[in-house]
Amino acid sequence: MQQNPLFQPFQLKSLNLRNRIVMAPMTRSFSPNGIPGTDVADYYSKRAAGEVGLILSEGTVIDRVASSNDPNIPHFYGQNALNGWQHVISDVHDAGGQMGPQIWHMGVMDNHPSGWLPASPFEGPSGLLKPDLTNGQTMTESDIADTIAAYGQAAANAKRLGFDTVEIHGAHSYLIDQFFWDGTNKRTDKYGGKTLAERNRFALEVVQEVRRQVGDDFAVILRLSQWKTQDYTYKLAKTPQEMEAWLLPLADAGVDIFHCSQRRFWDAEFDGSDLNFAGWAKKITGKATITVGSIGLNGEFLAAFRGESSQPSSLDELLRRFDRGDFDLAAVGRPLLADPEWVQKIHQNRMDELKGFSKEALAELV
Ligand SMILES: Cc1cc2nc3c(=O)[nH]c(=O)nc-3n(C[C@H](O)[C@H](O)[C@H](O)COP(=O)(O)O)c2cc1C
Repeated sequence: MQQNPLFQPFQLKSLNLRNRIVMAPMTRSFSPNGIPGTDVADYYSKRAAGEVGLILSEGTVIDRVASSNDPNIPHFYGQNALNGWQHVISDVHDAGGQMGPQIWHMGVMDNHPSGWLPASPFEGPSGLLKPDLTNGQTMTESDIADTIAAYGQAAANAKRLGFDTVEIHGAHSYLIDQFFWDGTNKRTDKYGGKTLAERNRFALEVVQEVRRQVGDDFAVILRLSQWKTQDYTYKLAKTPQEMEAWLLPLADAGVDIFHCSQRRFWDAEFDGSDLNFAGWAKKITGKATITVGSIGLNGEFLAAFRGESSQPSSLDELLRRFDRGDFDLAAVGRPLLADPEWVQKIHQNRMDELKGFSKEALAELV
């Protein structure tokens, strides 16, 4: 049997991966009071035992009072939560895997349906949840400085606990992305501005602080998306030149790997080329990239939240792009949420055993 090229190892700084498949970060809300328990450790270590190359944790929030809108989302601060994460990484290592936490601040959020609210109002660049809808307060420069320090502290803790990398969540309309987008960043100080390059400043300072805390030899991943949860067709960078002005400074600030979030990895980023977001990010920065979005499935994840099921689909187009050198790693979300053995099944060519994804899989940690 021909060796699947996704099963080549990958080495970069602190990462030594056995293959190119990454478990995409997926919020599960199974960590009461922000503390991941043994069920969470079992969930991740099963994916490590199932041969996932790199596991990215669900978003885990940094030490700001209003960094989360859900009490069951794990914290990445405080002794109890960090003890929980210590169990997670040691179980994942015992099972032969590598892992990084996805460190997260949600920014201005919708109130959680449970009615739970953090002890202080949500915070963001301009207090806006979306253009013309305020649901939080505008961060002062001292709030911004404290938040940057909290990202750095979380990254330092990731390294201290023995994680292999850290991913900064800069995508999907959460805090960092709220700074990127002119729909939610109306600031007139140095953190605002007319261009994406100007609104990049907060992210640059977060990356610089994370890099300062973890040192040069620890791999730092930044997840970005062009789309917004308010508009899935939106593009922050409308041209390759705007993308250059956005990504090159982030690469200089210390990003090792860009994790380029799309709903469908095969969608071209700009007219005139079939390169996707990860393809452009790699071409522009020369850094390693991760692609993601409906790999191995025939339906995208936002439709899945509306209850649509997805069936397994071929990896041929992914492999065509991978062989062309468009990206280094491929992140898989829903298939791995539903089936800890998904990677093993691909490796062993057990395609008839692949399950697809239905919304019921969200109800428990399997
Ligand atoms: C249940 C669920 C939770 C998610 N939570 C996060 C998250 O915490 N952080 C994040 O960056 N993306 C999150 N995502 C997006 C996934 O990381 C991924 O980009 C998306 O599911 C597309 O990959 P897929 O088509 O392989 O599922 C989530 C997706 C799902 C289905």
